[in-house]
Amino acid sequence: MCGIIGILGAEEVSERLLNGLRRLEYRGYDSAGICTIHDGVLDRRRAEGKLDNLAKKLFAEPLPGEIGIAHTRWATHGAPTTDNAHPHATGEVALVHNGIIENFKPLREELIACGRTFESQTDTEVVAHLISEQVEQGVAPAEAVRTVLKRLHGAFALAILFRQHPGMLIGARLGSPLVVGYGENETYLGSDALALAPLTQNIAYLEEGDWVVITREGTQIYDREDNPVDRPVTQSGVTGALIDKGNHRHFMQKEIYEQPIVVAQTLKSYVRRLDDQVSLPIPDFDLGAIRRVTIVACGTSFYAGMVAKYWFEQFARVPVDLDVASEFRYRAPVLEEGGLALFISQSGETADTLAALRHARSEGQKIAVVVNVPTSSMAREADLLLPTHAGPEIGVASTKAFTCQLAVLAALAANLAHAKGRLSPAEEKAVVRHLAEAPAALNAALAYDEAIETVAQKIAAARDVLYLGRGPDYPLALEGALKLKEISYIHAEGYAAGEMKHGPIALIDENVPVIVIAPSGPLFEKTVSNMQEVQARGGKVVLISDYDGISAAGDGCMATITMPKVHPLIAPLVYAIPVQLLAYHVAVAKGTDVDQPRNLAKSVTVE
Ligand code: G6P
Repeated sequence: MCGIIGILGAEEVSERLLNGLRRLEYRGYDSAGICTIHDGVLDRRRAEGKLDNLAKKLFAEPLPGEIGIAHTRWATHGAPTTDNAHPHATGEVALVHNGIIENFKPLREELIACGRTFESQTDTEVVAHLISEQVEQGVAPAEAVRTVLKRLHGAFALAILFRQHPGMLIGARLGSPLVVGYGENETYLGSDALALAPLTQNIAYLEEGDWVVITREGTQIYDREDNPVDRPVTQSGVTGALIDKGNHRHFMQKEIYEQPIVVAQTLKSYVRRLDDQVSLPIPDFDLGAIRRVTIVACGTSFYAGMVAKYWFEQFARVPVDLDVASEFRYRAPVLEEGGLALFISQSGETADTLAALRHARSEGQKIAVVVNVPTSSMAREADLLLPTHAGPEIGVASTKAFTCQLAVLAALAANLAHAKGRLSPAEEKAVVRHLAEAPAALNAALAYDEAIETVAQKIAAARDVLYLGRGPDYPLALEGALKLKEISYIHAEGYAAGEMKHGPIALIDENVPVIVIAPSGPLFEKTVSNMQEVQARGGKVVLISDYDGISAAGDGCMATITMPKVHPLIAPLVYAIPVQLLAYHVAVAKGTDVDQPRNLAKSVTVE
């Protein structure tokens, strides 16, 4: 899994490849590597760990060459060592790979039996050997690739170099995305348009099973049956500028602080203040015909979907199924006619979610996607594209994308209710007004940053932390626990507050802080009862509520975090701020790598 880029250039490529990798680090940062062809050899630089290690190597030992490929890795097969770093190479062939070759074991055994030796534990290296075997027997590169592709099971995006053909770059994709970029006398391959943005805006998206031969004479794309095909060249419109942290210490902190603005920006496409009505970017999409909604996503996006389930059922009275994407496809979900399958993803590239989307389409569902990257695979495959306008999110732990997803989903729930005749004009007006209050409420929540930092100092020493919430605050408890785990490495779990008594309460002692998310509202008293069950057993509670809630129940808590009083509809957006800031400050106190925590990737492009 990982990010890949290739350049058949008119001038030196290694520095530009490195810059491309910086834009692909969201796909993994366990190791990185570059290979070019110069002086008749395939020459590689590879380094374990973050991209800066590779940059240092390249500085010490520059890599000349006008053709090259590069890779940033999220380890699947084999530890994140230099030997396992891509590009993988024989004397004749070098390649980079995103995906998993599922049948690599028998292929590896076959190749070893033929006397070939391996230098890595990766699944990828077999592909280099298979192609090399052919090339060494005199088979032309394109023919060798064509034959080998037929032997690979699993998912791949590949970029391949041939020692004897310094003017040729071959790419192929199945399951993992790959784009071709067209520049001035140069041609590129990349995992996405973002990687190529500083080089070109002219992008062709390869389709499933496509492979491409790029030479100085021109580019030819073939489909999975090996027929020559044309794929349309589109303008990506993606900015080539690298995003910086501004005045912030980390991207995550910057992105937390951007939330009032980006939520406001996002809402503009979904609510009209002029006439207080909800709207959709595709107005003629027939929401009234939707009989059931199936929401599928991963990680933080899944928790946004979980909040949406409450809203869709409450406002539109439409039944909602909810699945994590990695489970959805493999449990034979019943998808009836008239169903809307809704996929939520910051990146629009998460492999599990994308595979689930394609499964739902094959089962006749209408496809809606809430995505932050408008050029992503999911965005391009949707019937109803619902963009979030959070802007590039760099911190691996998702923050602003989450609140923007919530904003879109709340508006979608209201649209659905409207289309179903379940929202009177007065109710619609009220929904629009509440949503419009969200940016200011998020701003007000951010004002408690220092107080939250003080609470974080008390949490930083804990080994385990529990988060509790009810109703739409239950997914927030899960999200709070996920944020803390991801960036501070403290074990944390979220529970529906009412479930505590069925098991987790056994964990309670004075060393396990319990974060209770309880805005005042219909579920406040019930949540507080569960909180008191914790306190009765010596548990140390941090109560996150508004002034009224804290006045009513704050006594006896280890700490309280005050939030502005808001309408229950927007409470999940507002209460995202304290759970994000709490995790952020705990991570800073512990000195972890906040923006690129260990073992994670921003976008997981393998199943
Ligand atoms: C990774 C990230 C999470 C993210 C999840 C889903 O695991 O580390 O922060 O929530 O993928 O990503 P998506 O791009 O589909 O929202």
